[in-house]
Amino acid sequence: MRVISSKLNPNSPEFKENYQHHEQLAQQLHDEQNKIAHERNVKTLERQKKRGKLLARERIEAVMDPDTPFLELSSLAAYGMYKDEAPSAGIVTGIGRVQGQEVMFIANDPTVKGGTYFPLTVKKHLRAQTIAEENHLPCVYLVDSGGAFLPLQDEVFPDRDHFGRIFYNIACMSAKKIPQLAGVLGSCTAGGAYIPAMADETVIVKENGTIFLAGPPLVKAATGADVTAEELGGADVHTRISGVADHFAENEPQALEWLREMIFHLNHKKEHPLQIQTPEDPQYDPKELFGVLPKDSKQAYQVHEVIARLVDGSRFAEFKSRYATTMVCGFAHLMGIPIGIVANNGLLFRESSLKAAHFIELCGQRKIPLLFLQNITGFMVGKDYENGGIAKDGAKLVTAVSNVPVPKFTLIIGGSHGAGNYAMCGRGYDPRFLFTWPNSRISVMGGEQAANVLWTVRAANLDHEPTPEEEAEFKQPTLDKYEHESSPYYASARLWDDGILDPSQTRTALALAISSSLNAPWPEGGYGTFRM
Ligand code: COA
Repeated sequence: MRVISSKLNPNSPEFKENYQHHEQLAQQLHDEQNKIAHERNVKTLERQKKRGKLLARERIEAVMDPDTPFLELSSLAAYGMYKDEAPSAGIVTGIGRVQGQEVMFIANDPTVKGGTYFPLTVKKHLRAQTIAEENHLPCVYLVDSGGAFLPLQDEVFPDRDHFGRIFYNIACMSAKKIPQLAGVLGSCTAGGAYIPAMADETVIVKENGTIFLAGPPLVKAATGADVTAEELGGADVHTRISGVADHFAENEPQALEWLREMIFHLNHKKEHPLQIQTPEDPQYDPKELFGVLPKDSKQAYQVHEVIARLVDGSRFAEFKSRYATTMVCGFAHLMGIPIGIVANNGLLFRESSLKAAHFIELCGQRKIPLLFLQNITGFMVGKDYENGGIAKDGAKLVTAVSNVPVPKFTLIIGGSHGAGNYAMCGRGYDPRFLFTWPNSRISVMGGEQAANVLWTVRAANLDHEPTPEEEAEFKQPTLDKYEHESSPYYASARLWDDGILDPSQTRTALALAISSSLNAPWPEGGYGTFRM
């Protein structure tokens, strides 16, 4: 397969300047993630330790196979929200290997408001379950939660995608033979009791673990009876009397070991139609991605330079390389797994849409997972293009993206705007995973365009000739708003994606995501109408 030949000079001043800028963005990301994972008040941490409890991420690590990577999802959930009181939305989710198998971890963080569920905690829990369901990943629930965050009950309790949906998902996944395992490491109060109670298999820790529909204060209020938490729903009660839990653990490490044991006995075998090759590093160092990406996000660049630093051996069999060059399509391998890449290299035109739709059909036919690299301001606008039918050709691409029966993955490497977001497999198109880079921007259109549109409408209704000052004053709030809201931090906080990745670590993350998708039966389906 042909090797991409880079046209960039890593010693050029421009490359070095870009490198410094993007390396700093990646460092900022790691610093924020570090703070989110570790910054808690000393009292809370000491209390946790005194109770013989590990932190949520340490619990996951203890269950995972040693020295294997953990793909943490949405670590920046709730970033800058809820008065910054809910780091990672109080729940850690992600994929790790246990006994060689990929599993989805869903771990409450008891150091964040007793592990209770804010609206975004619920959204993040449900998203992790969706990923588990789509990719047939066993779920491991590390439960330690006081249930609903009561001050926001109206946003977490009553609606379809609120708290109750968690238990519905457990029942549905269990019915699809996707294992549901729970470790009760702390409190499971009220609705939360249904996580271990509905799981396929449950272990509970002596003294720390409790499961009850109503805790001692509520029992006292309702019936007047005094009862301790242990008598009401401790490990002894549930493994000896009620049978709500299956295994009794003397302490937390023993419970975590029990979970490894349960996974060992799942008897699961991964089957897929792909021809896996021996993994190979790219010929160009992935760290060079920092120098490839322009400092100015509006500046164009060759997406081949990105592909060369993502795929095995920098090998890329490009499809229709001479035609519609603002869309780059081709076959490659990522850590040995075959993938089809659809990448923006400029605006979307009629021809680029048709080329991508054709390539997507090929991937569907050959059962090759698709990776979309989004850097798109949108479709070409103007009379000639509309008259030429760009809407129906764009629609063919949207149809192909929506219906293609292969797992899809999306990485936003630059801008994600307008209908370009849809045509390139945005969140609404059910990619199995969607990740972004720290330099990415997402909004319906750029801030300047939005301010211009609003100003044009406004100016047409004025009864006087507006001054430049009036125009600037009108536009500024829109410019500020779009700048703030298009940030990848703003997006990831709201779970519009599955996390921001350091470009230089993207290969590992994507490989784990794509490999995880191979646990599910191959998707089936056909295409709708391609408007001709
Ligand atoms: N909603 C909102 N905040 C809650 C909460 C809830 N359901 N449960 C606990 N918190 C808050 C506490 O107010 C405290 O906040 P602070 O750090 O700002 O002081 C923090 O979470 C930790 O609670 P604390 O009781 O000090 O920690 P703990 O580890 O000893 O106990 C629980 C944790 C969850 C076992 C205990 O707080 C509890 O039983 N909460 C009530 C659970 C409940 O009845 N839920 C009903 C859900 S429908």
